Amino acid sequence: MAVGILGLGTYVPERILSNADFEQFLDTSDEWIVSRTGIRRRHIAAEQEFTSQLAFSSVEDLIRRHGRQILEGVGMVIVATNTPDALFPSTASLVQDHFGLEAGGFDLLAACPGWIYGLSIAQGLVASGQIKRALVIGAEALSKITDYQDRSTAVLFGDGAGAAVVGEVAPGSGFLASVLGTDGSGQIHLHRSAIADHLPAGAKMGPHLYMNGREVFKFAVRVMNTATLQVLERAGLTPADISLFVPHQANLRIIEAARERLGLPLERVVVTLDEYGNNSTASIPLALQRALDQGRLHPGDRVLLVSFGAGLTWAASVLAWGGA
Ligand code: ACO
Repeated sequence: MAVGILGLGTYVPERILSNADFEQFLDTSDEWIVSRTGIRRRHIAAEQEFTSQLAFSSVEDLIRRHGRQILEGVGMVIVATNTPDALFPSTASLVQDHFGLEAGGFDLLAACPGWIYGLSIAQGLVASGQIKRALVIGAEALSKITDYQDRSTAVLFGDGAGAAVVGEVAPGSGFLASVLGTDGSGQIHLHRSAIADHLPAGAKMGPHLYMNGREVFKFAVRVMNTATLQVLERAGLTPADISLFVPHQANLRIIEAARERLGLPLERVVVTLDEYGNNSTASIPLALQRALDQGRLHPGDRVLLVSFGAGLTWAASVLAWGGA
């Protein structure tokens, strides 16, 4: 059975924080942020707006675009997030209840690549016949765990959400191969405490995200390349076969390095971080939706999704674009 993405919906909060806004309260500049990251602005959730609401809004957009019937047969809700409203109940349970779905549900913690992990798990559940469709959401209220006094992380992150329905698609379309990896020896470079006693020696405690940007940068450049080549090999493809490259939106220099190493022309790469910053699990669905809205995705196109994040973790997936 061919399994793929039947529809997408996305949401970003109304409030925008520009680089000029950061200049008002941090020792930083628009010039530094743009030249070192490519980010110009990011959308930030309202004070009382949390990940579950962002997830709801992305599903409402999915319904607006594809009709409520796209949710028929959804037997599992997977919410990939690093910023759930609570440790439990899961954000997925809140989504199930909000939309009155007859489905199981769980949150998935695999850092930024979580949405690709979710797609892969959903594909397996559908292909094995356990469910007909799955709702896979990446949703983040990263502003709630960002230290706005730390200039090396504050300028990077934005809030948003993206939702996809995964189900049976026409033969020849759908997921061709996936790679899911993690290497916990890099845990110190990017973390946020929950049960603080269990963090590695030297870890920073507290409510905010901590990142060693230089180490993550080096890892990201390496793994974007290796994960992409690995997933292409599994699918029997080469970089020249990629119609659209949709990388995690963390830093334009990381995307550029990957693009150059893979020999991809600029027009095959989707970049949204100038507008959204880094939305972690939501960055890839937001970028995919942008490409669709711009008419850059056509049936049969080979689409490559690749991401990296805390863990350190990575994931890549290649699919032939096309619905039912
Ligand atoms: N404005 C001005 N100066 C800054 C800022 C800022 N916003 N942030 C850092 N600097 C300064 C540093 O303090 C440092 O100053 P110093 O030399 O006096 O010590 C100088 O700039 C250089 O710092 P570096 O950390 O070497 O800067 P770099 O060019 O590496 O850029 C960055 C930092 C943007 C964080 C980069 O390392 C990066 O993008 N790393 C990868 C991060 C990433 O991909 N995270 C994604 C995974 S996590 C997730 O997606 C949820």
